[in-house]
Amino acid sequence: MLYDERAFTRDDESDDRRFYAFERMVSHLDSLALRTVERIVGTLVVEQRPEILDLMASWDSHLPKELEAERVVGLGLNRNELERNERIDEVVLHDLNRDPALPFDDASFDVVLNTVSVDYLVRPFDVFREVGRVLRPGGLHLVVFSNRMFPTKAVRIWRETAEDKRVHLVQDFFSDAGLFGETTTFVHRGHPRPADDRYAGVEPTSDPVYAVYANRLGAERERPSLARALVLPDDAERERVAARQAEVDRTLRCPHCGERLLKWAVPWTPFTEWDNDHMFICFNDACPYLVRGFTVMASQGMTSFSYRFMYDPERGASQSIPVHTLAQLRDGIVDE
Ligand SMILES: C[S@@+](CC[C@H](N)C(=O)[O-])C[C@H]1O[C@@H](n2cnc3c(N)ncnc32)[C@H](O)[C@@H]1O
Repeated sequence: MLYDERAFTRDDESDDRRFYAFERMVSHLDSLALRTVERIVGTLVVEQRPEILDLMASWDSHLPKELEAERVVGLGLNRNELERNERIDEVVLHDLNRDPALPFDDASFDVVLNTVSVDYLVRPFDVFREVGRVLRPGGLHLVVFSNRMFPTKAVRIWRETAEDKRVHLVQDFFSDAGLFGETTTFVHRGHPRPADDRYAGVEPTSDPVYAVYANRLGAERERPSLARALVLPDDAERERVAARQAEVDRTLRCPHCGERLLKWAVPWTPFTEWDNDHMFICFNDACPYLVRGFTVMASQGMTSFSYRFMYDPERGASQSIPVHTLAQLRDGIVDE
């Protein structure tokens, strides 16, 4: 394994159980992304009455209603959140960062899910090996992620790896375990954010959904293609978002406040995988996107944290970049 020793460290190394003691009954994804995750799970889980382990689980289940499970075990850190989850039959409180060993027998599950949480694992290689141990031959390990996170708890390499390249990182976790067949990946991104979403006016595109999955070695099992899991938003909404994107590209102005975006040099770090030299960022401290971000993140227990709007000229894509303070990133401004 060729990872820098700091790769799986975090800004906040305090006890995860304390951090997650704060109850967060929030949706971690918008409704389009949530429907997509449900379809992914519904499409891939072909087992009849499977025994399912939902790793790093919370109050929201991503199991579709039609999926009848024999048993669903939810493993996480917050008892109240897990007890609110209607699909979970057994709650297991277990900190995977203190002890990556899963408290289950060998070959005791058909499916292990991990949704929007793999970025918090400080020993992902051990955890994936453990998942392989508790899965039955041919069983499914499905890892789904997006681009939101509690940044102080996400491992450094995750934060510093470009969003689309994180798929390779997760593939590496699978292959290092030596217990899984080939991984398959699926990406659902660039769709307009549903108009009823609370960030609708702030973030134009729906939360991206990335899935990486593989079967436990030892038995063959065919799984249907995820092309079926695609949830397409309506075309008018798509055109509206494309027009807005084209406007950013043409004017290099922030779509949230109209301020001119400033050219910013991408810093070099051992992990940076953005292959362009420059981004364009909105440095307006009164931009509603930034201001609202501070409020929303504070309501989720993350004080002094928000995002600035960022435009990637190489890919013609709007993104966001996390900031802890208003001064952060300013030394990278190279605007004339
Ligand atoms: C962003 S939430 C995602 C919850 C859920 N999987 C979902 O899709 O809605 C991250 C979850 O990871 C769990 N988690 C974080 N660190 C953990 C750790 N060290 N051990 C076990 N679970 C952890 C937390 O309890 C939290 O519920």
